[in-house]
Amino acid sequence: MDQARPRRVVVMTGATSGLGAHALQQIVAQSNTRVFIGARGSGRAVPDGVEVLPLDLASLASVREFAGAVIRKLGETRINMLVLNAGIHGSNAKQRSADGYGLTFAVNHLAHYLLARLLLPNMAEHSRVVITSSNMHDPPLKRIAPKALELQEWAHPTPNGPGAGIRSYTASKLCNMMTALSFARLNEVKARRINVVAFNPGLTGGVGGRDASVLQRAFVKFLTFTIFPLIGLFRSEFVMNTPEHSGNMLANVALGAISPLPGGIYVSLVEGEPTFPDPSELARSQDAQDRLWRESAAMVGIEEQPIIMGTPAAPESDLSR
Ligand SMILES: NC(=O)c1ccc[n+]([C@@H]2O[C@H](COP(=O)([O-])OP(=O)(O)OC[C@H]3O[C@@H](n4cnc5c(N)ncnc54)[C@H](OP(=O)(O)O)[C@@H]3O)[C@@H](O)[C@H]2O)c1
Repeated sequence: MDQARPRRVVVMTGATSGLGAHALQQIVAQSNTRVFIGARGSGRAVPDGVEVLPLDLASLASVREFAGAVIRKLGETRINMLVLNAGIHGSNAKQRSADGYGLTFAVNHLAHYLLARLLLPNMAEHSRVVITSSNMHDPPLKRIAPKALELQEWAHPTPNGPGAGIRSYTASKLCNMMTALSFARLNEVKARRINVVAFNPGLTGGVGGRDASVLQRAFVKFLTFTIFPLIGLFRSEFVMNTPEHSGNMLANVALGAISPLPGGIYVSLVEGEPTFPDPSELARSQDAQDRLWRESAAMVGIEEQPIIMGTPAAPESDLSR
């Protein structure tokens, strides 16, 4: 392998456990590929050849340091795949990021929003950005999904409010979906033919997250082996995928083996198979997307340019017309 001029450069979050760790194995096994992952703590066990850089998504300063470190290491070399997969599964109203925001909103949304914006200038032509979202963002599928943008509540949660508990999670996954849709609308992204994909791995068992308490892990295990398989007999979105399978599908999406339909951005696993539904109605609202974009920029300290977006990109097949 030519180390000096790698053919493919990958930057990934959420690659240290769960489905992301399985995706990483498949990505790093590709020939001539240089992989950077952001990870908390030191001495993380990763496949040979993976370059681990410190990243705590609960701190915007850490996100900036990580992005700076990646850019310094790459120099003129561009990024071919940015995989934003890390996530926590909800937090209570007291749990805050280093910057004082609701922890789940900060880790799952704000940190990835900032990271994507910082790395966008370093993305290659025809590169791919994958953001792991969830069908939990979509009210017809999950009743606890958000029906309105309640950004102040999500950023500064109050006990039992829409920014706390499982609702902090569904809100953050809506933000992931809307961020993907907003990036796909950027003129800069369209001009450089960058593909943006939102990925839903579907219910994936065997994971609980290292942030989860013993009680939460036991509860997840109980649901995984009793309730969900029963509900899954009647409702396909409750059919459980293994982390190996969901991880392999994430890798396939990142590597371009699975793509959204032309003009779309969403790949959603249902019973383990890729489907291509529309994002939720709220996610598709351009007014809501623009508000999330603007307010997120203010929260992470980015000064906004006046005109950043156009209409959604034409499908590849339509570009020659
Ligand atoms: N599992 C499901 O049923 C399901 C369904 C739909 C969508 N998803 C989405 O899929 C993605 C992966 O989920 P999973 O179930 O595989 O979760 P997981 O096993 O808990 O793994 C989460 C990953 O995110 C990383 N992470 C969490 N907080 C971080 C922080 N502050 N700084 C840096 N990294 C951090 C974790 O790092 P550590 O190793 O340090 O903990 C880990 O690598 C998430 O975005 C999740 O929302 C999952």
